[in-house]
Amino acid sequence: MSELKQIIDTDADSIRELLIGSGYSDRAITYYLDKKNMGSLPDADQITELTGVCGDTMKIYMKVEDGRIQDARIQVLGCPGAVASAMVAMDLIRGRTLDEAKRLRDGDIFRVLEQIPDQKQHCIRLTNKTVQKAIEEYESGNGRKGA
Ligand code: FES
Repeated sequence: MSELKQIIDTDADSIRELLIGSGYSDRAITYYLDKKNMGSLPDADQITELTGVCGDTMKIYMKVEDGRIQDARIQVLGCPGAVASAMVAMDLIRGRTLDEAKRLRDGDIFRVLEQIPDQKQHCIRLTNKTVQKAIEEYESGNGRKGA
């Protein structure tokens, strides 16, 4: 194992421990650490940004074809709850029609996360609000390719 990989792994272990102590499930922590849907899409059809009352910001990128979300990525400037929720949400809307994605509920995201601290429930709400705003803007033609 390289020295750098060892440092990264040790870091991830201590972050995991810290988050378990704060009330995050193992699964939620893995979403937070992997950040697999974090980023942008250069050819996005819709880019939408939303800042929550807490000051955390999410920017979603969606590729839409024939009313279906072909791909989705998201940039998150925020807490572990925000990052984990956003990663889950992208998994849940990718491949779905816009109408199906409109029916995404906060509880759907929570079920995948399994557990996050009570005071972090609003991070899930911010995530779903960002998704719903992106769909609305896409359908109304507002904010397309813009923030
Ligand atoms: Fe703002 Fe989590 S604290 S989204």
